[in-house]
Amino acid sequence: KSILKPYLFKKDAEEAHELAINTGAYVAESDLFRDLTSLIYGYNHPGLKKEFWGLEFPNPVGLAAGFDKNGVLVPAMEALGFGFVEVGSITAEPSKGNPKPRAFRLPEDESLINRMGLNNEGAEAIVNRLKHVIPSIPLGINIAKTHSPSINGEKALEDYLYSYNLALDVADYITVNISCPNTKDGKTFEDPTSLKELLQTLNPQANSTPTLIKFSVDTTYEQLSSLIAICEEHGIDGYVATNTSSQRDDLSSSQEHLASIGNGGLSGKAIEKKSTQVIKWLRSDITADKPIIGVGGIHDVASAKSKLDAGADLLQIYTGMVYEGPGLIKKIKKGLLH
Ligand code: FNR
Repeated sequence: KSILKPYLFKKDAEEAHELAINTGAYVAESDLFRDLTSLIYGYNHPGLKKEFWGLEFPNPVGLAAGFDKNGVLVPAMEALGFGFVEVGSITAEPSKGNPKPRAFRLPEDESLINRMGLNNEGAEAIVNRLKHVIPSIPLGINIAKTHSPSINGEKALEDYLYSYNLALDVADYITVNISCPNTKDGKTFEDPTSLKELLQTLNPQANSTPTLIKFSVDTTYEQLSSLIAICEEHGIDGYVATNTSSQRDDLSSSQEHLASIGNGGLSGKAIEKKSTQVIKWLRSDITADKPIIGVGGIHDVASAKSKLDAGADLLQIYTGMVYEGPGLIKKIKKGLLH
């Protein structure tokens, strides 16, 4: 944190991310570097083990979607001590995403704003890559609709189904991302009628792979409740709460800085409380045995614990790792044990 962070934070946010990805992919290739990484960052304890959907999680701290969009980092993330990894979002067609710059730091808020726009190599290439990876931790795949306004209606359903069917080959669980705030059409499926059509198309009850839905943080209890009812009717196995926010309330960053950044999804400390509230609402609407993955602003042991207290069973981290470094994973695991 004290050596690398000042260096990485001098770079553009996406450039720093690419450097991290390239280093991680390099680590992933080498037994020696993986072992060294495990030695420094790894921490296992039987008391951290969890079991959901018949899958064994060595610990409850996972990597959130968006960090490893193309599935190149799974062994490196395992070596860093994550208990599970969610690759993606992957989309049926490859996509370059939105024009750069599209990722920004808000250091005063320990938060990020991104409008990556679902850049990824496409479901087929990524699933083929993952066929050669045999992690000892559960592998989630997050699917979204291809970022293209011309793909809508029936075509949008087929687009999701294509990625879903491919993901079934390699995923231990699949998350359906209906809450991407960075595409004009990415949130269409947060409308109850469209969500119903989507779930009828995917038909998660017809296979044994757990299928989860990822919700936005920008929701009211009433909106969330109507979506949960549809998910429960269609055999959804769990939930990921939450995605990033389009809102900009209560930030310490200056209005000038925010205006210069423009649109995008806010993540990190700034959404911690709201995302915990969504988890509480979710937990109050579903049965105790239905797992929730809590994500949004986890940056220390206390914020991890408050997600669990709100009703989450597993956790995911993205922005916290950018600000705190990968040592955060071990810190949280030790903190949760004690
Ligand atoms: C994301 N996130 C995200 N989520 C998703 O379902 N699909 C995606 O492709 C992405 N992409 C993405 C890119 C970037 C740069 C960030 C910062 C985030 C959202 C992420 O998985 C998570 O839900 C939120 O960031 C909240 O968690 P943190 O970052 O506050 O720990």
